[in-house]
Amino acid sequence: MIRIGVLTGGGDCPGLNAVIYGVVVRACQYGFEVWGIEDGYKGLLSGKVRRLRKEDVKDIYWLGGTVLGTSRKNPAKSEDELRTAVENVKKLGLDVLITIGGDDTLGAARKLYERGVPVIGVPKTIDNDLPGTDYSIGFWTSVQTITDALDKLHTTARSHKRVMIVEIMGRYAGWLTLMGGLAGGAHIILIPEKPVDIDEVCRIVKERKERGEPYSLIAVAEGVTIPTTGDLVAVSAEKDEFGHVRLGGVSKILEEEISKKTGMEVRSVILGHLQRGGIPSAYDRVLGIRLGCKAVDLVKEGKFGYAVVVKGIEIESVKIDEIVSGLRRVPEELHEYTNIFTL
Ligand code: F6P
Repeated sequence: MIRIGVLTGGGDCPGLNAVIYGVVVRACQYGFEVWGIEDGYKGLLSGKVRRLRKEDVKDIYWLGGTVLGTSRKNPAKSEDELRTAVENVKKLGLDVLITIGGDDTLGAARKLYERGVPVIGVPKTIDNDLPGTDYSIGFWTSVQTITDALDKLHTTARSHKRVMIVEIMGRYAGWLTLMGGLAGGAHIILIPEKPVDIDEVCRIVKERKERGEPYSLIAVAEGVTIPTTGDLVAVSAEKDEFGHVRLGGVSKILEEEISKKTGMEVRSVILGHLQRGGIPSAYDRVLGIRLGCKAVDLVKEGKFGYAVVVKGIEIESVKIDEIVSGLRRVPEELHEYTNIFTL
């Protein structure tokens, strides 16, 4: 009997439950047992697990968030905790750990693998910034949420003839802002991969007004640096266990600058965690179930240290090393789409 442990780590996103569903259903087909580890690595360190049978997951594949709970606990923060995590895998009788997460969660999974724990990774993050996979779970649902928000902001911005700035998540990568901005018709799209020229932004806004387009919608990524100082804008300087600050607030700084330079009425809105909430899109449900099933296929093959990924229409596997090899940013060939609605 093979006992699989499954956990979700880092920020939640829509589609995680679909992965859990896929894991449990495929494990049942093979006669494997699944144990859900609660609250990510926090639950692994405290030994908080519960059995997941088919009946426990039958209605979850379409739910947002994660039924297992999550945390930003880093089990590799200290040697002691890493040892406890490895020991607990043994104590709990787990033959393999399926870790569903972003670069932090999968980076920690790699450390556990180096200590002899058989692991399999499933990439998830709305930020879509992981190498080795075309898309990560949650991304396209989040893009839809951003699109819906922009659709709404068009009508209010147009009515008031205002400049409206929408701040979008994504940390140091502009995928959400670019794709959400494109789908939602943002007139100006500002991503971390491309330096911001504030005078150019003001010129476009004024030029639009002069030619009878009295309002402008600007999509800005939270990871865009302030043009004058080159600094990121953070909610506070406090860092999480993986060393990340909480980004947020660049839209407010742009609001003040643009208002000062154009004399126009400007408003800013931070979409925040709305982008991580809600039910997964059809794409994320299907992707989640397929990735979950494939992860258990790898368990059956004994192919550990790998992550399951999507490439085109295929579900494949790559080494976890590749997923955690660095940040995947928006490539230059896509930068031209940042001004498709400017022209
Ligand atoms: O990595 C996903 C993400 O949503 C980022 O886009 C964002 O900067 C961060 O998580 C927010 O984290 P928290 O939920 O800890 O506020």
